[in-house]
Amino acid sequence: AAGQPLRVMIAGAPAAGKGTQCAKIVEKYGLVHISVGDLLRAEVAAGTSAGLKAKSFMDNGDLVPNEVVVEMVQNKLGETDVQHNGWLLDGYPRSGEQAEAIEKEGIRPDVFLLINVPDELLIDRVVGRRSDPVTGEIYHLTFKPPPADVKGRLVQRSDDTEEKARNRLWTYHANVDAVVGYYEQQLVEIDGTRSMDEVFASIQAAIDAAARAVAA
Ligand code: AP5
Repeated sequence: AAGQPLRVMIAGAPAAGKGTQCAKIVEKYGLVHISVGDLLRAEVAAGTSAGLKAKSFMDNGDLVPNEVVVEMVQNKLGETDVQHNGWLLDGYPRSGEQAEAIEKEGIRPDVFLLINVPDELLIDRVVGRRSDPVTGEIYHLTFKPPPADVKGRLVQRSDDTEEKARNRLWTYHANVDAVVGYYEQQLVEIDGTRSMDEVFASIQAAIDAAARAVAA
């Protein structure tokens, strides 16, 4: 589509379905997906100094310190393809301080999608999640069973245990209100308890509405 590149933020509790929906959004809208969790896992895997600092926080389900994440995200948002194609920011900001930092840079979304799923559904989503290291595809042993030919190579994230997920959930609840407070004008709440396709239909409606508002 012509016009200004779109800027989308997506938030929600651990395993609410952010990554699943981001894949669909990228396919349809061509935005650049910036997943802070994925960026951090790549730093950890590469053994960089940022990764070494981040690892223990991620293992515990705590937020990684701002000195590691704030600049990482701001650098990413400044990249040419991101500026050109628009962005889909997944997992950032995750605290009032991060929202403040990005606000100071004049970075605001056209739409802020908040996927709501009650905690009791999330633990099952966490423990059943598996991902394909080759394609990046996210599966679930019950809700999105992997095809037989990829099953053997699937991996489970080290923070996807029930105990760690409970702390990730706690961290989420401790911070979400402060974040949402910055984006009341752009906020669209999405019921994430439905099927993946139904959730995406609502997301599409929200993004299309934001795109029309930007174009107007
Ligand atoms: P991050 O990687 O962002 O993890 P998260 O927020 O816990 O989110 P997840 O990736 O677990 O879940 P998701 O919402 O993407 O769900 P998915 O689509 O996979 O962050 C990890 C860590 O990095 C943090 O704990 C923190 O330490 C650090 N970090 C990240 N950002 C940071 C920041 N800004 N500041 C500081 N530290 C930061 O779906 C989950 C499962 O459910 C899958 O199996 C999927 O198939 C299934 N599923 C999805 N949708 C549905 C549906 N509609 N119905 C049934 N099943 C579904």
